[in-house]
Amino acid sequence: MGSTLAYAALARGTARTVALMDVDRAKVEAEVLDLRHGGMFVPQAEVLGSDDVEVVRGADVVVVTAGAKQKPGQTRLDLAEATIALTRKILPGLVEVAPDATFLMVTNPVDVVTYAAQQISGLPPERVFGSGTVLDSSRLRAAIAEHCGVAVGNVHAYVGGEHGDSEIALWSAATIAGVPLLEWPSLPGRPPLDAAARESIARDVVESAYRVIAGKGATNYAVGLAVTRIVEAVLNDEHRVMPVSTRIDDFYGIDDVCLSLPTLVDSRGATTVVPIPLSDAELVGMRASATSVKAVQQRFGL
Ligand code: LAC
Repeated sequence: MGSTLAYAALARGTARTVALMDVDRAKVEAEVLDLRHGGMFVPQAEVLGSDDVEVVRGADVVVVTAGAKQKPGQTRLDLAEATIALTRKILPGLVEVAPDATFLMVTNPVDVVTYAAQQISGLPPERVFGSGTVLDSSRLRAAIAEHCGVAVGNVHAYVGGEHGDSEIALWSAATIAGVPLLEWPSLPGRPPLDAAARESIARDVVESAYRVIAGKGATNYAVGLAVTRIVEAVLNDEHRVMPVSTRIDDFYGIDDVCLSLPTLVDSRGATTVVPIPLSDAELVGMRASATSVKAVQQRFGL
């Protein structure tokens, strides 16, 4: 996934320098060569790579993709023990060489890992956040756009909560072409976006990664693009509202957990959670998601 992220960042011209770090020296050197060989087809950028953490010294943004791969049938939360242990091992060294960086956690279970990373790093919480449900929200918007027969750019909808099985679609705040989604009139020849359709879409979003993993062993393209977009929001100080995983406190009674809600992302990191209105059902879903993620936090003493 890390090399796909590097590829997406180079193709989009996200950064002037892209540095890869991997314990497998031969692999990371080969990835760097392969990426460099495409240099004339993408915006000017320097590509570096090493098994030595020094290669990321002074980075503005550090993206952590190291961790156990989700196997067919495994939930993201099943990966917690291995990934928390790996985060404890590698994060201090990364913070030492890039103390002023914003850290973007991607490895699953990303909400629990983000919570752990905030503790381990000792950095201000806004500078340690997770990719959260940016990818899930992209999946949701694509499904809504296809169902309604409109461009995905016309759809504004977020997935909230865990990046995982307990995530929920925040329908009540969603819009299509500026029209509240729950009032969408359906275009001629298109099926209604009724409760049954919304439930089917939400279920497909939750199951998306399982389907891809069953077929090709892992997801990488969409998550690589999603993470690249988050990095751009930080590097370009975009003040972009994105559903990233951040520390949630005092939000409708939800405290002391990392979950995804629409949040302002800029050069300081993930700074402000948007007080998005929720329906009663969405609030129940968010609280259930918080309970699920906190149980794993507590199981591993976080
Ligand atoms: C997915 C992985 C990144 O949802 O959790 O594709």
